Amino acid sequence: MSNVVVVGSFNVDHVWRCEVLPAPGATIAGRYSTGPGGKGFNQAVAARRAGADTTFVCALGDDAGGAMARGLAAQDGFTLTAEACSEPTGTGGIYVDARGRNTIVIGPGANAALSIGFVQGQQALLAAAKVVLVQLESPVDTIEAALGLAREAGVITVLNAAPADAPSSISLLKLADVITPNETEFAALLNRHVGERIDPNDVAALDGASLHALCRKLVGSGTVVVTLGAVGVFVSHDEDTLRGDAQPYYRIGAEQVQAIDTTGAGDAFNGALVASIAHSPDAPFARHVRFANQFAGRSTEKEGAAVAMPHFTPDDQPA
Ligand code: RIB
Ligand code: NA
Repeated sequence: MSNVVVVGSFNVDHVWRCEVLPAPGATIAGRYSTGPGGKGFNQAVAARRAGADTTFVCALGDDAGGAMARGLAAQDGFTLTAEACSEPTGTGGIYVDARGRNTIVIGPGANAALSIGFVQGQQALLAAAKVVLVQLESPVDTIEAALGLAREAGVITVLNAAPADAPSSISLLKLADVITPNETEFAALLNRHVGERIDPNDVAALDGASLHALCRKLVGSGTVVVTLGAVGVFVSHDEDTLRGDAQPYYRIGAEQVQAIDTTGAGDAFNGALVASIAHSPDAPFARHVRFANQFAGRSTEKEGAAVAMPHFTPDDQPA
């Protein structure tokens, strides 16, 4: 049985590194490479390399991509439990510019076929975990089922509400103890679920009290961690559940890094966050966030998504 269970997507990423991101109508040349990705898989690799005993639950096609996922999970030392699908394994098309910024298009393939029934079959696994982590690159009702099973068993649940355009629901948000949107996803959730219109570019500049109020509007109870890229992270707790912190809300600055590829940085953050929670569930939440920040920062100094995750555990963290 694993401390961390990640339920989510695997993609074979096709990456082009170019000077600038292509404009509509443009044809440009870039340096091509391919490698493992998908938010779920990246987060499972991150959790494992951050020291957690990890299981990844996903859907794979009967093809080279599926074989790649199984091989890499074995190499990294985590368990992969896959629903076998007739659809091809998921894919990602990624452009990365000279500043390390990216745009991504995904072809969900098998990820879209991850079924409620398959996840229900993992009930014992989910119930025995310390933390269950999900994202939104899989069907929303399947993700909701996974969170529901974990919640029923009293397991800590974390929802990385990515990507921003994926369907979500209030009932889904309520099943998560912690949600971790970036500024774009945060703005999308606010717009969709509480009718609050806010420009993603304005989120980081809001003062703490205003950001906290918006987080509380979105989820009455529970913790919201808004990741703000190079600006850092904002944390907002329900005042009744401070998770070991002294303050209901606060900011933690980003690590100073030489980013060459930010693909999967959010995934690094989420995987490391749950690994740290599983490692020391009673530690102040801010400590998990600081660890996740360091881990995510380092992941941007290497090319790629899953393969860029550092090997760095909470025991390696300076006190
Ligand atoms: O978060 C980065 C990931 O998003 C990539 O690996 C790509 O596959 C998409 O899922
Ligand atoms: Na990277």
